[in-house]
Amino acid sequence: MNTKAHILVTGGAGFIGSHTVDLLMHAGYRVSVLDNLSTGYLTNIEQWIDHPRFNFVDADITTDLTAAFAGMVRRFGRIERIAHFAAQTAVPISMDDPVGDIQTNLAGTARILEYARHNKVAKVFFASSSAVYDDDAPVPVSEESRARPTSPYGIDKLAAEFYLDYYARLYGLTFTALRFMNVFGPRQDPKSWYSGVISIFLERAVTGQPITIFDDGNQTRDFVYVTDVAEAVVRALLSDAGNNAIINIGTGVEVTINALTHTILELAGSASPVRHEPARAGDIRRSVTTMDRAVALLNFNPRVELREGLHATLAWVPQEKTKPVAGSGAAA
Ligand SMILES: NC(=O)c1ccc[n+]([C@@H]2O[C@H](COP(=O)([O-])OP(=O)(O)OC[C@H]3O[C@@H](n4cnc5c(N)ncnc54)[C@H](O)[C@@H]3O)[C@@H](O)[C@H]2O)c1
Repeated sequence: MNTKAHILVTGGAGFIGSHTVDLLMHAGYRVSVLDNLSTGYLTNIEQWIDHPRFNFVDADITTDLTAAFAGMVRRFGRIERIAHFAAQTAVPISMDDPVGDIQTNLAGTARILEYARHNKVAKVFFASSSAVYDDDAPVPVSEESRARPTSPYGIDKLAAEFYLDYYARLYGLTFTALRFMNVFGPRQDPKSWYSGVISIFLERAVTGQPITIFDDGNQTRDFVYVTDVAEAVVRALLSDAGNNAIINIGTGVEVTINALTHTILELAGSASPVRHEPARAGDIRRSVTTMDRAVALLNFNPRVELREGLHATLAWVPQEKTKPVAGSGAAA
């Protein structure tokens, strides 16, 4: 594929999107980022802002994007492929405002798909989530495990996958949907109440604040490092790998929150006290994925182990971000 091709990354100023932008820019593509900066930051993409192959468009996927698309095409020519990350990503917000979640996560996705269909976009990548699975699904979860979401966020991700499949069957759209497990790494915002457990715990360890573990800490998660995730995205986006498939992206390694906390405190050289609070409603007990489909279709082989990833994330926690966090931490 022509490396000068024009790729659109929605949500490209966010955590996972910006790492994907880095890979695409390093590989020589023309990249447009469409983002409303609601949870993303220009600092995540500041390294590219003045680059002649880079274009930032401040726009909202819940609104008419005709002018935004036209501007991108004027700048870099037709959009060949789209990586769609832009989303309302907080499960609790989706519970408080299911209609808003539909507007961003479902209608916003349909808007991107409509553009893809009418403009012969070669492939769409969609950022889906392990939140589509039934909480009671036996672990490890595979793509065949029962999808029965326990939040509007999970419902909208699952419904968006059905839209992808529908567009593929009716209009010949080509897509890959990756269901991410718990992604972690630099640029994950620890200030958000809804952020990943790792970014919150790391920040609290560095600042010596207490760490709160909900439940007994023996609940498990599958933590996958963000650059490994971005590599899987780029492989699916730029090739025929995983065409019209839905694929779990994790490590296949089940880690308890207690073990995670221990490693974080050790790496940070922190004496933060650890407190336990009762389990939160809706938190699942065990979470880990099978790797078979990711290996078979994407040759996916996560390279960064948890400890190494934590080390790199710790090095990133910048000074200005080491102010007290609003919440006391989360278990997942
Ligand atoms: N982080 C994880 O562990 C995880 C797990 C499963 C799925 N995902 C999915 O991956 C994608 C990226 O997540 P992330 O962790 O990087 O989150 P993030 O919040 O850092 O990124 C989302 C980006 O989308 C932008 N955005 C939000 N609403 C928008 C709108 N209406 N219009 C335009 N832009 C908008 C935000 O400003 C932000 O830059 C999301 O679709 C999320 O649901 C993430």
